[in-house]
Amino acid sequence: MDNQKLRSQGWFGKRGKDGFIYRAWMKNQGIPGHELAGKPVIGICNTWSELTPCNAHFRELAESVKHGIYEAGGFPVEFPVMSLGETLIKPTAMLYRNLASMDVEESIRANPIDGVVLLCGCDKTTPSLVMGAASVNIPTIVVSGGPMLTGKFRGKDIGTSDVWRFSEDNRMGIMSDEEFLVAEACMARSRGHCAVMGTASTMACMVESLGLSLAENAAIPAADSRRKALAHMSGSRIVEMVREDLKLSDVLTRQAFENAIMVNAAIGGSTNFIIHLLAIAARIGVDLNMNDFDTSLKGIPLLANLQPSGKYFMEDFYYAGGLPVLMKELQQFLHNDTITVSGKPIDKNYENSICYNSDVIGTIEKPFNQIAGITVLRGNICENGAVLKPSAATPELMVHTGRAVVFEDIEDYKAKIDDPELDVDGNSVLVLKNCGPKGYPGMPEVGNMAIPTKLLEKGIHDMVRISDGRMSGTGFGTVVLHVSPEAAIGGTLAIIQNGDIIKLDVLAGTLNVDLTDEEIAERKSKWQPRHTVSSRGYVHLYQTHVEQAHLGADMDFLKGGSGSKVTRDSH
Ligand code: FES
Ligand code: MG
Repeated sequence: MDNQKLRSQGWFGKRGKDGFIYRAWMKNQGIPGHELAGKPVIGICNTWSELTPCNAHFRELAESVKHGIYEAGGFPVEFPVMSLGETLIKPTAMLYRNLASMDVEESIRANPIDGVVLLCGCDKTTPSLVMGAASVNIPTIVVSGGPMLTGKFRGKDIGTSDVWRFSEDNRMGIMSDEEFLVAEACMARSRGHCAVMGTASTMACMVESLGLSLAENAAIPAADSRRKALAHMSGSRIVEMVREDLKLSDVLTRQAFENAIMVNAAIGGSTNFIIHLLAIAARIGVDLNMNDFDTSLKGIPLLANLQPSGKYFMEDFYYAGGLPVLMKELQQFLHNDTITVSGKPIDKNYENSICYNSDVIGTIEKPFNQIAGITVLRGNICENGAVLKPSAATPELMVHTGRAVVFEDIEDYKAKIDDPELDVDGNSVLVLKNCGPKGYPGMPEVGNMAIPTKLLEKGIHDMVRISDGRMSGTGFGTVVLHVSPEAAIGGTLAIIQNGDIIKLDVLAGTLNVDLTDEEIAERKSKWQPRHTVSSRGYVHLYQTHVEQAHLGADMDFLKGGSGSKVTRDSH
């Protein structure tokens, strides 16, 4: 691309008063004039925050990106955007994913940026940045922060999925409070995001399989020096992408989305993947719907033996060859000619990869598990769909009939779950309402409800659980999630009562309550919402505009994009 045609020259290349203003204040940072005279200006969109521990190393990572940008003849400008830390933000980081995406979109569009590097890590920081960038559609590359090193606790490897196990053991008195406390420091022992195939790692695999990052981005540990080398190379590459005018929409084709869906099945990725990918597709204008995610019967086996579906950790995955090895194994399923940010077909990312540990990454002939992917459920409880991750579920519960034990909302659940009088047994189906996008609000990760202590004591560790909420990507169990329509808008979930008979058949892809259409209609006619709608601020905007889970839970007015053009000047 001709330097004078660069988008940034609409600022820095101007004559007169406007050009003076655009350049002069930049120069207070010690920037010599030639940096602004036609070099590609590359934004580094940084989600660094000490309140997002998974991304707390990103200022250092940004320095590596800058080295690469300078090396290729570009000019880097780092800017902050809203960061979403999964562990601290109440009531759930998901409530703010769309807000962060708006920040990202407008920050890119409003500024003199020719290309952008997205620094993503903790769960929501990846989808929010990609969604925002997609609505602008300039050359874009993703650099993930990388997973933590595997936790080490008293001679055992641990990661985030152990949080659920440890808390059960602690409730049962098998693990003392003191041990529980020690385990905290042992688990989170290095920089980086969750070390299992939770949502953050799923998102890192998503961007690599979509072609939005350089090869190997998904798994290099945050603490590994090769993470910085990848950041450096990504910085160099984005400068070339600007020169080639390789935009996000050139990479994010329907085929690229299909690749990501197949890869997600084989890695045992998080159910959150569905919501985020649907939202990204709607931003870039690719037609994707729930049926596209129904991968459990497509013959793609689970290749990655990683927690929570398997045994190992992201560090092991990287040493075994990482995502390139897994994608090479999937070659027969993938669209191998989709273009990536490298400018080359995606098979160039993996054609020379070698598997160094077949216990961590299996083969199509000898997979880790034949059961993989996501099952999309349909039925009278979920007319617009619900999802379940079979590889994280108990095989004996996949076809199950049981009576409903209903919790009207999360407070009701917390008040009753450990009540010795609660009428529940191992065959019961736990139903939690009002955890959807509008109801909670923000659709939190509470769907893998803890099992009643009195059942844990009987050795019951899994039950069928149903909600309109989500589950942490690190979670597991026979958990039906994302029920749409949600209870708060009067979906059938809202009218289920204690004792109703619920039938789950994962093999048939169905979820039904044993009620006639007339009975359902009768109960719905008497139904009253019990959630409140905020009267002001972002939460009001969110609750009045958020769409249902099966559409990606984006706000209705954020679909599509507004492009990168801004015509008017500021003074
Ligand atoms: Fe940030 Fe798990 S809490 S990735
Ligand atoms: Mg999460």
